[in-house]
Amino acid sequence: GQRLEIQFPEGATQVKIGYKTSPTASGLQWLSPEQTAGKTHPFLFSQSQAIHARSWVPLQDTPAVRFTYSAAIKTPPELIALMSASQDPSGERDGDYSFDMPQAIPSYLMAITVGDLEFRAISETIGVYAESYIVEEAAAEFADTPLMEAANAKLYGPYRWGRYDLLVLPPSFPFGGMENPRLSFLTPTLIAGDKSLTNVVAHELAHSWAGNQVTNSSWRDAWINEGLTSYVENRVMEDLYGKRRAVMEQVLAKEDWQRDMDEIEDPAMTALALPETLADPDEAFTNVAYVKGQFFLNFLEDRFGREVFDAFLKSYFDHFAFQSISTADFEAYMVENLIAPNPGKVTDAEIEEWLYAAGMPATTRNVVSDAFENVTEQQTSFLGGTIGAGDLPTQNWTTHEWLFFLNTLPGDMALGRFEGLDRAFGLSNSGNAEIAFAWYMKSLEGNYPAIQDPLKGFLLRVGRGKFIYRLYQRLVDNGQRDWALEVFQEARPGYHPIAQNRIAAIFEQPEE
Ligand code: BES
Ligand code: ZN
Repeated sequence: GQRLEIQFPEGATQVKIGYKTSPTASGLQWLSPEQTAGKTHPFLFSQSQAIHARSWVPLQDTPAVRFTYSAAIKTPPELIALMSASQDPSGERDGDYSFDMPQAIPSYLMAITVGDLEFRAISETIGVYAESYIVEEAAAEFADTPLMEAANAKLYGPYRWGRYDLLVLPPSFPFGGMENPRLSFLTPTLIAGDKSLTNVVAHELAHSWAGNQVTNSSWRDAWINEGLTSYVENRVMEDLYGKRRAVMEQVLAKEDWQRDMDEIEDPAMTALALPETLADPDEAFTNVAYVKGQFFLNFLEDRFGREVFDAFLKSYFDHFAFQSISTADFEAYMVENLIAPNPGKVTDAEIEEWLYAAGMPATTRNVVSDAFENVTEQQTSFLGGTIGAGDLPTQNWTTHEWLFFLNTLPGDMALGRFEGLDRAFGLSNSGNAEIAFAWYMKSLEGNYPAIQDPLKGFLLRVGRGKFIYRLYQRLVDNGQRDWALEVFQEARPGYHPIAQNRIAAIFEQPEE
């Protein structure tokens, strides 16, 4: 960002700023027609979080400042414009669009998209926008969104934003989802055909309470957005699909947290409240914010019981509605409204450890999934040679069992086992992006070479950062830097500017 200094004439009360965005604005991706599925029209979308709003609008780009807005947008008549604001899905498509955002939002929630999009209603107040090739699949995949909204509202009070629509972006969208108010942005890689990855929708929707309604005032307190959201997401998943799935998702999340804990070098970066020295807000978004944050709330839930804790959280969302708050604000409210009225449940030292100390507290909930224990047994037989890959009883495995199975395979597994699994289950060409990613990561660890072509295809097709940053990093660490760089050079024009920069930085690291 850059300081914008304006001299106010005597008595002036308003400022009008004329500005143009630049083609290189980091918060915008301009796609050529060839980069869309339809191939005939260009596409534009924004990604403002964490601090890219300033690249396309001159504003005070901090989550501590909130504003309302209205906008008028002109597009070529065949393209539709959408914003994170009120819009009428049945309105005329005439190249003339207007928007109004009456609830005060922080800058990172300002969003725009323009493209050749179709709309399918899911309910009266919920629907999905997508390119036509995928709009039916998207509506089917996300059909449970109204139930998710109802479960959220039952637990944490009314949805306060009017409509809730989903937008499926081209595959270069660099995130799984982005909680732009009234219009969550989603990667098409969520569309697995079996609703197995829709926890991301539950997550973005949960931000309507945790994050959008009550916002972290600094990215150092990102757990106030992401930790609370991950907790709410999991409660909603449990409500809709049952404990079995919710617990599996907790176990997988905890493994991701453990992995980040092993990788983060500075212990101060493993506390929920991050240090003043944090320079780059993107560094706040590790699984410390997401999963340690979630497990902090699990800890509170376990100690106070659901009845008390649910009522507390509901009152919290109401009390701080449309405000931006810090860890200290959260703590003060919790002490007054949860801990003081229910003495003897937690100690000050326990809370202090969760919020301000490094590492995984000993009071972290122990999560055990029977489904995964079963997978472990089968895996042991497979690794021990008692059963072949084709004998694994995978008929009833969901995506979650597959992810657990793949993540826990030993990296130094014999190549024959990799081949056996690939032959039996076609993992290298899995249509489920999470499964494909887990398989590629493990295959790179084990130097299983047959993934090379499908992996290249994946890296050319998918721009979701969670997958591609770790794949490129693993390739570089594995001594496949040259091949990875070749793939990157080919894929780069299709990636979002945020992803391009992140991956370029991987190749700039000094070689070990
Ligand atoms: N708000 C985040 C995405 C984000 C974080 C954008 C930091 C820019 C900077 C969003 O809600 C999110 O967390 N998405 C996750 C999915 C979730 C289920 C963990 C993602 O994109 O993978
Ligand atoms: Zn989130």
